[in-house]
Amino acid sequence: MIRGRLGPWLILLAAGLGLSTLGAVFWLNWGDWLQTERPQTPPVATAESIARGEYLARIGHCIACHTRRGGEPLAGGRPIATPFGPVYSSNLTPDPDTGLGQWTADDFWRALHLGRSRNGRLLAPAFPYEHTSVLTRNDSDALFAWLREQPALAHRPPPHGLAWPVGTQAALAVWRALFFRPQAFRNDPRQSAEWNRGAYLVKGPGQCAACHGPRNAWGAGQGVDALSGSRMAASHWYAPSLISEAETGLASTPIDDIVRLLQTGISPTASTSGPMAEVVQHSLQHMTADDLRAMAAYLQWRAREAGPVSVRASAAASPATDRARGRAVYEQHCADCHGRNGEGRAPAYPALQGNRAVRLADPSNLVQLVLHGGYPPVTLGNPQPYGMPPFLLELDDRDIAATLNYLRSTLQAGEATAGEVSPQQVRRVRDAASR
Ligand code: HEC
Ligand code: HEC
Ligand code: HEC
Repeated sequence: MIRGRLGPWLILLAAGLGLSTLGAVFWLNWGDWLQTERPQTPPVATAESIARGEYLARIGHCIACHTRRGGEPLAGGRPIATPFGPVYSSNLTPDPDTGLGQWTADDFWRALHLGRSRNGRLLAPAFPYEHTSVLTRNDSDALFAWLREQPALAHRPPPHGLAWPVGTQAALAVWRALFFRPQAFRNDPRQSAEWNRGAYLVKGPGQCAACHGPRNAWGAGQGVDALSGSRMAASHWYAPSLISEAETGLASTPIDDIVRLLQTGISPTASTSGPMAEVVQHSLQHMTADDLRAMAAYLQWRAREAGPVSVRASAAASPATDRARGRAVYEQHCADCHGRNGEGRAPAYPALQGNRAVRLADPSNLVQLVLHGGYPPVTLGNPQPYGMPPFLLELDDRDIAATLNYLRSTLQAGEATAGEVSPQQVRRVRDAASR
């Protein structure tokens, strides 16, 4: 009886809840359209703002990400791999049909700040608008002013390859209601101007958390300042924690060495490879000395603030036969460059002894390097980097695992945190590359 009377009310309640959820999702994504009057005063482009726009386009990875391999600069079409399929970057040149030719500075600001296209379309978060949202209106206008000066190129990027329903506007609206809030950068008056500049660069144009920040199953990060390390989406690279002493040690690294690493791709205690080498090559090497120093100081502050971070304990050690095999392979194939005891040969070949990159609990980067080889980035400060050859054909999965385990246990000073690398882990990276 009671059920009979309650039934219709429950239906009404459910419908009401559904409607208000829909309302909330709508409001969170498009609410500002209803609220704000939109002044259309075009900002005045000066030589100064255009130059600053070019600088920002470099250090903000805009040029790198909006240029496809072998394609013309800024014409878009570069695929960004996501776990749900590829997303293609847009054409940012002033072409009226396929680029931003018809856009105003306000449209552009809304794209960066709110992640929404000129026609209201919600953009896929493969465009890291969580970070561009932090950019100031002034910087957005400077970027726009510089983009307008570039040659217009007609090129329509391919449609996104996102699996249904991930790419639909409804799914994006819900995702954004759950995980995205536009944010403006605010100076912290208790901190120095350098600290604030560093924070702005890390959270905004630098986008460090886009790779170094952990992500949940829906691909959402934990904010623009989350730097505790992450497996990169759809790839076998691990971006180490920037706040852990064991993984990158920025708290105890001299500021000059952090600056050197970010600017040239190598430092006395570390070298960059893979996606990080690209970041250095395309973006960070172009930063001014003041900006690099501000960023390094802020990162160090963050690492010190975080205090000791617990590290994952090591797994059981492999049998002694594997150790002997690892040592033999190392001496035959690696010692020429890295030294018999992993002491390296500065500045060409990094030391492996005591090297944090060798000890990372997640061995993905090591396996990548040994399989495919690598170069530190080509930079002004390191114009002809020495490379590491690929061992893809020369060494099998067991040999590679054994060598890495030898390095991770025998050559490492201090506490063993690394854990064993298994031949299966090597196989997974090998297979991923051949797909
Ligand atoms: C990691 C790669 C990446 C980086 C870095 C990046 N973008 Fe994008 N951007 C994209 C992708 C992918 C899209 C397309 C998203 C979509 O269509 O849903 C996009 C879309 C845009 C759009 C919207 C274009 C349109 O037609 O709606 C603008 C504007 C834009 N980006 C500007 C920038 C600027 C300025 C920067 C540098 C501060 C930047 N992007 C950095 C990948 C990137
Ligand atoms: C496109 C993804 C990506 C972005 C963006 C990125 N990183 Fe990295 N980073 C990586 C990966 C992957 C590694 C591990 C490979 C290596 O050590 O070079 C890494 C390594 C590092 C290291 C450790 C190098 C070593 O060997 O000790 C530092 C320091 C670092 N990144 C700083 C930064 C800073 C600062 C930013 C923002 C300005 C940033 N990264 C942005 C992917 C990224
Ligand atoms: C011809 C010289 C050469 C040989 C041989 C060589 N390497 Fe390297 N290795 C390098 C160079 C150069 C780098 C820096 C590469 C980069 O930054 O991308 C490097 C980087 C590394 C790193 C990463 C260090 C860091 O700081 O991120 C590891 C680990 C490594 N090598 C292991 C090995 C192992 C294991 C072998 C043998 C199977 C080997 N290397 C053989 C030259 C060599």
